[in-house]
This record gives sequence, C-alpha cells and structure tokens, in this order.
Amino acid sequence: MHHQLLYLSRADVEAVGLDMATVISLVEEGFREKAASRVEMPPKPGVHPSPDAFIHAMPAYIGRMKAAGVKWVGGNPANSARGLPYISGLIILNDVETCLPYAVMDCTWITGYRTGAATAVSAKYLARPDSRSAGILACGFQGRTNLLALASVFRLERVVAYDIDAGVRDRFAAEMSAALGIRVQAVNDPRAAVVSSDLVVTSGPLLKHPQPTIEAGWLAPGAFASAVDFDSYWTPEALAQFDRLATDDHAQFHYYRRMGYFQRTPDPYADLGELVGHAKPGRQRPDERTMAMNLGLALDDMAVAPEVYRRAVARGLGTWLSL
Ligand SMILES: NC(=O)c1ccc[n+]([C@@H]2O[C@H](COP(=O)([O-])OP(=O)(O)OC[C@H]3O[C@@H](n4cnc5c(N)ncnc54)[C@H](O)[C@@H]3O)[C@@H](O)[C@H]2O)c1
Repeated sequence: MHHQLLYLSRADVEAVGLDMATVISLVEEGFREKAASRVEMPPKPGVHPSPDAFIHAMPAYIGRMKAAGVKWVGGNPANSARGLPYISGLIILNDVETCLPYAVMDCTWITGYRTGAATAVSAKYLARPDSRSAGILACGFQGRTNLLALASVFRLERVVAYDIDAGVRDRFAAEMSAALGIRVQAVNDPRAAVVSSDLVVTSGPLLKHPQPTIEAGWLAPGAFASAVDFDSYWTPEALAQFDRLATDDHAQFHYYRRMGYFQRTPDPYADLGELVGHAKPGRQRPDERTMAMNLGLALDDMAVAPEVYRRAVARGLGTWLSL
C-alpha cells in the first residue's frame, strides 16, 4: 500500500483561515502541557550560511495534543531587497503511533500567527489587563500578526506604527485600521510608537550584533513589551529598566546565549510554561515595566499545525502525494 501525505501550500494554509483566538488557545494549551513536563523539545540545531541568516530544525512532541513533527525554517534579513520573504520553510507532521509523515506544509502563515499568539499569551500574564494602546515597530508580517493577537486579547483603542520604510508603515496603518476598526497611525519617529503605548511590539530584523534604537526612559512605567526580534531593538540600558523580563523557554534562551546572542540582556526570571502553569507570578503591580522576549519554539508550531491539517482535510484543500 502506498502511504499518502497531504501537501499544503502557503495559499492552502491561508485558505484554512484558522482564527487568531483559536491559535492563541492552542498555543496556550501547548504551554500548559510544557508546564506539566509533557512536551519533548530539544533546542534547535541550525546552519548559518551567512552571519544573520539561519536555517533551523525545530522538532517537538506534545503527547496530549497528538502532535509530533518538525519545522525546517530559514530566515535572511537580506531577502526583502530581493523581493523574497524574510522567513520561509516547511513543517512536517508525523503520526504519533506509526511515526509516518502525514503532512508537509508551508510554515510562513503558522510562524506569523503562532508568534503573535505567544506574544498574546505572555501579555495575558505580564501586561495590564486595562491596556488600550499599542505601538508596533516594524510593520512586516510579524507586526501584523502580533497586532492581531493583541487586539484579540485587549480592547485596543489606539495603535501607533513605525517602520523604517514610509510606504510600508502607511500601508500597514491603512490595512490594519480597516481590519481592526480602530485608529492605526503611522509615525516617522520610533520614539512616538513607544512613549505613549501600553503594549509595544518590536519586530524588525534580528541581528546578532544589533545597533538598537529604543533608549532607557522611552517605555512608560506600567507598559508591556514583546521583543519578537530578540534584543535587536532595545539598548542594554532600556532592557535593564524592566521589572520583569520573561522568555518562552529557559533552556533555549541559554542555548542562544552560548551561540553569542543576548550578551547584554538580563537573565529571564520566568519562562512561558512557568507563567501559564502558575509556577512563577506574572505582573504584580500596575507600574511594572514587563517584557516577553520569546524566542519562538517548536511547540508553538506543533500546537497549531495539526489543527490546520484537520481543517484542510475537512475542506478538501491541498494536494495528496505518495510517500
Ligand atoms: N521570536 C520569534 O518567535 C520569531 C518568529 C518569527 C520571526 N521572528 C523575527 O521577526 C522579525 C520580523 O519578521 P517578519 O516575517 O515580520 O519580516 P518582514 O520582512 O515581513 O518585516 C520586517 C520589517 O522590518 C522593517 N525594518 C527593517 N529595518 C527596520 C528598522 N531599523 N526599524 C524599523 N523597521 C525596520 C522592514 O521594512 C519590514 O517591514 C525577524 O527578525 C524575524 O527573525 C521572530
């Protein structure tokens, strides 16, 4: 018998149309399983064809979610100048009984949505529940998905968006105003996107030796920040001002530090499994500055990809291939 697997292109994955609220609850369930020590997830091995480029293997197994597989994901900041996506790659899903692969899918959509969802899960524990304004710095795909995720958890009234490219930030403001039905204002000064925002997302290029922009004193007391681009956007002095800095996985944070990242970033006091599992406290006072520096984990992808597969099968999307 020839075993079949389902191939889902980026368009197929988008056509599934999984909503952000579902992605957030799947990612949170993944972290609950991690908190209960029921996730297997070795740190990402990778190859690095040029200094800021990477191709990482991200395997994970989440038993109760019947999820096993790997994401093979590449990223290169030079791609936008080539008209190519910064982040691209494939997810392979394996049957947890037989270990046979049963799906291969483009990872771009899931990577954007699950990263936004991880920001939102972190914000549930670390941001003020009455947060009403957001600042987005770098208006690419992550800027969009992180804003969508925050808007599904908080009653946002005002968004300020900055990107180094004026055309990109203006398009983002128009599209996200229409999508969310709130005022999204493009600004030409990164400081303006930080100083009056309750929630700040930085999602620019991820650099091993960054020349950061955000200075100490810009972020207001009581605000929450999600550094999707690691420490690339925040000066060490600004990072030192946080009352609480969390990550998504201690082991992977220290693995990155051994590879040369996070040389001037304080040690995270908690990871997302500890916050979701209530082993560590989240925000304690309204005036704390808090940060999530989530690295992006294989468990985020594995929590979401099987649901994309199930809905694709139900709708007859994708292309069946012989193994
Ligand atoms: N932590 C995670 O889990 C995770 C997951 C996926 C991607 N990422 C990172 O998120 C970042 C964004 O990815 P993406 O897919 O949205 O890329 P993208 O190419 O869609 O967006 C990047 C944006 O940054 C803008 N930009 C470049 N330099 C800037 C600067 N100095 N200031 C402001 N804006 C600037 C570009 O104009 C572009 O709009 C990358 O660094 C990527 O590695 C992190």
